[in-house]
Amino acid sequence: MAENLETIISVIAETEKAFFYRLSNAATRDDLEEIRIEYLSRKGKVQSLFSLIGKVDGADRPKIGAELNRVKKAVQDAIDEKQKSFQRTGKAIEFFDPTLPGRTVSVGSLHPLMQVMDEVKQIFVGMGFRIEEGDEIETDYHNFEALNIPKHHPSRDMQDTFYLSDEYVLRTHTSPVQIHTMEDQKPPIRMIAPGRCFRKDTPDATHSPTFHQVEGLCVDRGVSFADLKGVVLAFAQKLFGKDVKVRFRPSFFPFTEPSAEYDFSCIFCKGQGCRVCKDTGWLEISGAGMVDPAVFGFVDYNADVYSGYAFGMGIERIAMLKYQVNDIRIFYENDLRFLKQF
Ligand code: PHE
Repeated sequence: MAENLETIISVIAETEKAFFYRLSNAATRDDLEEIRIEYLSRKGKVQSLFSLIGKVDGADRPKIGAELNRVKKAVQDAIDEKQKSFQRTGKAIEFFDPTLPGRTVSVGSLHPLMQVMDEVKQIFVGMGFRIEEGDEIETDYHNFEALNIPKHHPSRDMQDTFYLSDEYVLRTHTSPVQIHTMEDQKPPIRMIAPGRCFRKDTPDATHSPTFHQVEGLCVDRGVSFADLKGVVLAFAQKLFGKDVKVRFRPSFFPFTEPSAEYDFSCIFCKGQGCRVCKDTGWLEISGAGMVDPAVFGFVDYNADVYSGYAFGMGIERIAMLKYQVNDIRIFYENDLRFLKQF
């Protein structure tokens, strides 16, 4: 039995020696993996040594067991160490074929909402409008007060507006940029203001607590509602094609008088009536109107000399029509299966 013990100890020592010899010749990660499997897998060389324990006297077993555990740990540590050294030296890139084509870098694309926004901007810039930028955080004064929206107006309700404090809100529309522009500049003014807006809406297929608008404002001597209609029609036809018609319906906004909602003739059924336009032949776009003289009062413009029109539009609404998307939420879900289509 004693001989047996010695033989077994030497078998273990041989195995360990052979392992370190093999390891010293491992030049690549593949080599290393091969050695790891050969020695450490469930049926590997180290594991099979454990069956030798049963062949020695009971009294010697702890000794053999301890020795085997030491070898197993030494093998594992050496493999780990080598793995790390591959990572450090970058030697892991053991095979380089310069004739293979490179990996294509995915460059991504503009978000569909930004593409629509760009298109809208381009059309208005082409008609002589400047682009003004506003802040997403607005004072209560610019978002409401100076737009002739008094304290008791329902659009100021906590239900609609994200209040940051009594004085500051996340803008609920891009209309405050009208005020900033008129505070900073004298007429003539012809500007659009694209940007993100926020309302405390519960998301559903047509509502999102964050959305985008483009505001338009034109102020000069002798600006009339006819100018507004002409600009909106030109815009509609540039965006959706020559045969699009525009209609204005009476409406109310505190900062325009008279006020209107404007619709485009349905781009899907050409006004015949379909599912998208709910058989009306018209698609609601947004609000517009002549700048209310009360607003000119807030920015020190002489309402006897100047007149102007303003309009708004929702970018999501236009994008949904353009791409036939029927749920607004998909624009914000960051789902590449959707975004990659644009
Ligand atoms: N700001 C209005 C809204 O968000 C739209 C609008 C803009 C109406 C300009 C009239 C003039 O609903």
